[in-house]
Amino acid sequence: MALCRARAANLRRMKALVLSGGAGTRLRPITHTSAKQLVPVANKPVLFYGLEAIRDAGVTDVGIIVGDTAAEIEAAVGDGSALGIRVTYIRQEAPLGLAHCVLIARDFLGDDDFVMYLGDNFIIGGITELVAEFQAERYDAQILLTRVDNPSQFGVAELGPDGQVCTLVEKPQEPKSDLALVGVYMFTPVIHDAVMAIKPSGRGELEITDAIQWLIDEGRTVSPHLVTGYWKDTGRLEDMLECNRKVLESLEPSVRGTVDAESRVIGRVVVEEGAVIERSTVRGPAIIGRDTVIRDTYVGPFTSIYFGCTLEDTEIEHSIVLEQSTIRGVRRIEDSLIGKEVEVAPSSARPRAHRLMLGDHSKVSIA
Ligand code: TTP
Repeated sequence: MALCRARAANLRRMKALVLSGGAGTRLRPITHTSAKQLVPVANKPVLFYGLEAIRDAGVTDVGIIVGDTAAEIEAAVGDGSALGIRVTYIRQEAPLGLAHCVLIARDFLGDDDFVMYLGDNFIIGGITELVAEFQAERYDAQILLTRVDNPSQFGVAELGPDGQVCTLVEKPQEPKSDLALVGVYMFTPVIHDAVMAIKPSGRGELEITDAIQWLIDEGRTVSPHLVTGYWKDTGRLEDMLECNRKVLESLEPSVRGTVDAESRVIGRVVVEEGAVIERSTVRGPAIIGRDTVIRDTYVGPFTSIYFGCTLEDTEIEHSIVLEQSTIRGVRRIEDSLIGKEVEVAPSSARPRAHRLMLGDHSKVSIA
């Protein structure tokens, strides 16, 4: 009896595999030097929202796949104890696909069930319900789906008459449904047979959609779980800004820094410790990071300024500014993602001209 109980408990043991490598081509030039999973959404790296959702679902044994940005991810997440999880890092030599991540995580995953979570994905409402459903039902695999207007840009699932997934197609030209794959998957160990059986796709990657299709073709049950709340793949600038907007909208306002008498802080605004606001207006929802100085400046709605920045004589809104950047005398910045330690300032030198040093793949639109 005790043995049975131990076996049952063992069956339900879950790990998490979080994918934080990849090429990040859609977020260049930020991703030439930095991990896209560490771009802050409302001043918290997007990856941390995922790790917290995993922890809140009761999963604490977490493997993180890392690539070229391994050092940066490891510096940010450490051993995971600050987030209440235990982290094992798994190095991927090159971004060879989502199913390749499962392949190289074999030793870490052992024979446990696991949730696979794309480190640049963002889900409001977490995954607790999904994990509980999977543990109770224990399908061979379960995928998260959401209805989208433009299915041909996603992995698309078709459901059979029994309500289970019958086909999965990556970016179909003629989608058979509007159900797109969200970046969270639940697997039993049978997925290891699938990732061993499949071959790289035309783009040279081991595709997780092919591995799941292999399970279906083998007669395994792949169950859909419909996400009705907000979900975003933050792989592109517009998505990152939208996600930032969503989180800022539910921000609990608080002022822990200093705001002088000549400044106005309006609406949902967080001013973090050590931040200084002088002769400025901050119109929320917005967040001003630790030790950032805002002087003679207008910060408009949906703006996140990370720590150690200086903004002077500037107007900015609907933007994300990463740490330790300086922006002076610029009117006006909108819809922008500004990297770390960036300097933007007018030049007094003649002839008057834009003088730029931009990384490869930078995008600049000048008013
Ligand atoms: P994607 O966004 O699909 O791929 P990418 O990071 O290469 O970005 P882009 O399409 O802009 O070039 O990856 C989803 C998540 O999975 C992301 O957090 C990166 C991670 N990933 C890996 O860890 N290893 C891989 O081999 C791949 C393809 C992705």
